[in-house]
Amino acid sequence: MSFPSALQHRQYPRWPRILRPLLTLIVALAIGLGLAIGLKPSSATPIPPSIALIVNATQAPAPIQPLPQLKVLRPPVIRLGAQLFNDPILSHDRGSSCASCHQFNQGGADGLPQSIGNQGVPLTLNSPTVFNSGLNSAQFWDGHADSLEAQIDGPIHDSREFATDWPTVIRRLKAQPDYAQAFQTIYPGRGISEATIKDAIANFERSLLTPSRFDQFLQGKATLTPTEKAGYKAFQDYGCVACHQGMNVGGNLYQRLGLIKPYYTAQNPAKPADQGRMAVTHDKLDQYMFKVPSLRNVTLTAPYFHDGQIKTLAAAIRIMAEYQLGRPIPEADIDHIIAFLKTLEGQPQSIALVEAQ
Ligand code: HEC
Ligand code: HEC
Repeated sequence: MSFPSALQHRQYPRWPRILRPLLTLIVALAIGLGLAIGLKPSSATPIPPSIALIVNATQAPAPIQPLPQLKVLRPPVIRLGAQLFNDPILSHDRGSSCASCHQFNQGGADGLPQSIGNQGVPLTLNSPTVFNSGLNSAQFWDGHADSLEAQIDGPIHDSREFATDWPTVIRRLKAQPDYAQAFQTIYPGRGISEATIKDAIANFERSLLTPSRFDQFLQGKATLTPTEKAGYKAFQDYGCVACHQGMNVGGNLYQRLGLIKPYYTAQNPAKPADQGRMAVTHDKLDQYMFKVPSLRNVTLTAPYFHDGQIKTLAAAIRIMAEYQLGRPIPEADIDHIIAFLKTLEGQPQSIALVEAQ
């Protein structure tokens, strides 16, 4: 008889009807329990990446490597980050933004020996470029922030910079419908929070890679003039590459200012801001140790050094040869090195993306 099979056939499609309300109930209970013990669904999963950097794996090992290829996975995050970076809403007196001290027409820095803070009070250090900062192994001259996200706590709280706090910043942004809407769309389930503000700004900064003619040269797609080539050779022969190396031509190690010949002496005494990495580690061995700065766009970011006291690039190079390498350097070699450093100038590509908004 066909009776048993007919029965089975009838029963099969009934199961989901019984299961669906049961499953819904279980999920609802789980969410309810999660919320009850303080777990928000949003904090359970990490924020998805907005940027991918693609490194050419076949690249031969060299002291300087070309910039990775930038792939923007979530353009709206980068646009939101750009908006926040330029918005004085982040500062207590609504008088300055990140862009005040990191200007795009000044190589990502501000052209001042020491940046001027919110009440016109100068800071103690020179503003480094934000361009290519995502490639640095740590942030700040003494490396006291280990990520771009962590770096943002600095200007938010510093009394001479934004002089504010996260609850204030979040309250202000929530009060602006355009921001509330944008965050809700871009970070569903999370909205405006310290983590999402940091994510947007940090990823905008990560997008600020500045491919240059030198990168094209390394990839065999452009040539250098004889002077530029002589400069690159001198940069290697003098030993500059021992410290200024890698994709960012710096940014990946700490070294003492005055490695071979003491820079700070009785005639040139060190100020508190000159102590370098010792301020972080409290280890005397780290005195005057600074993160080796990137030399990408260095021709655009005078004045130089952590204290901005060195006015010209030629003077900076002369000091480097004398104090870091212990050797004099003829003017012709300095000129050649400057010609080489000029080939490292570039513009952030992602700006086109932001402007196309
Ligand atoms: C008043 C000027 C000023 C403002 C405003 C400011 N910065 Fe800076 N920024 C500086 C100075 C000066 C330093 C170096 C401080 C140090 O090393 O301790 C710095 C360091 C940095 C660095 C580290 C770069 C490196 O190579 O070490 C990043 C990244 C950065 N700022 C991004 C930002 C962002 C993002 C904002 C806004 C949230 C911002 N800055 C606001 C002046 C400023
Ligand atoms: C032993 C490591 C070391 C060597 C070798 C070295 N540098 Fe530096 N360089 C540094 C450090 C550290 C700083 C940061 C000093 C400071 O800010 O007080 C720096 C800073 C600079 C700056 C200023 C960058 C800025 O944004 O302020 C330039 C330009 C520079 N170096 C070029 C050179 C050249 C050219 C050579 C080779 C002749 C060279 N360096 C050799 C470690 C080194």
